[in-house]
Amino acid sequence: MSTRNLQGKTAVVTGTARGIGQAVALELAERGANVAICDWQDAAETLIAIEKHGVCALFERRDVGDRKQMEEFFEAVREELGRVDILVNNAAQSIRKPLVELEIGDVQKTWGATLWGVFHCSQLAARMMIAQGGPGNIVMIGSVLAHIPYVNSSPYNGAKAAVAQMACTWALELAPHGIRVNTIEPGWIDTPGERNFATEEQIREEGAKLPLGRLGRPDEIAKAVAFLVSDDASYITGSTLRVDGAVTLVK
Ligand SMILES: NC(=O)c1ccc[n+]([C@@H]2O[C@H](COP(=O)([O-])OP(=O)(O)OC[C@H]3O[C@@H](n4cnc5c(N)ncnc54)[C@H](O)[C@@H]3O)[C@@H](O)[C@H]2O)c1
Repeated sequence: MSTRNLQGKTAVVTGTARGIGQAVALELAERGANVAICDWQDAAETLIAIEKHGVCALFERRDVGDRKQMEEFFEAVREELGRVDILVNNAAQSIRKPLVELEIGDVQKTWGATLWGVFHCSQLAARMMIAQGGPGNIVMIGSVLAHIPYVNSSPYNGAKAAVAQMACTWALELAPHGIRVNTIEPGWIDTPGERNFATEEQIREEGAKLPLGRLGRPDEIAKAVAFLVSDDASYITGSTLRVDGAVTLVK
């Protein structure tokens, strides 16, 4: 049973209709945070589950890659929940094709969510946190692919590498305001998005070859987020936490 150590805080989590983002939103709500969520799909199910924890919640159907939509979303967060203390940049897209087959639209879609979405949300949240007088927390859900040239995934890999670098730069820029910025790099996690790329059989067979004998679960990423945004991590900023079951040590 988690403690309600985030009571009184307001969190924004992106990409929360399913998968890791949904698990993160529920974990923060269980710990007492009010939670604002956005997704370009319907996330009403997540909203209802958040409210069951007795906290305030807000859902807006938005594309994180669209600047105007995100300005409107953060304005709604300010109006309805009053503040933002925690931002979790989770929403991402990946269109997997080799370089020679990629179309500009594929890359724009991937970077819209995975790169521009992170920029828009981080800038808007940081401005609100500074205006509130700090402190605050920003967590990127990055990927181990930021450092691995996984083929047919170059727009996504590149976006995650850029996010990891920007997180470190922003950690230094925002440290004087008491705003910590960290990155979690998941390994292979069993989510609906990942199942677009792998069959049940592949997940079972390939999963058994991983060091821990299985894929990770969304709640295992969510618990790492909850640690990083808590006071237990008060001296951790500009860091990267791999939550990958040691997959990067054997490749
Ligand atoms: N699952 C994995 O194995 C894995 C590994 C490494 C990193 N990650 C990262 O974890 C995060 C979550 O991954 P997941 O597997 O849960 O993904 P998922 O595809 O299951 O869920 C992603 C959610 O984000 C939403 N979303 C996508 N683009 C959006 C946009 N432009 N605007 C608003 N919402 C948008 C989707 O609708 C969906 O609800 C991503 O940042 C991903 O890169 C996942």
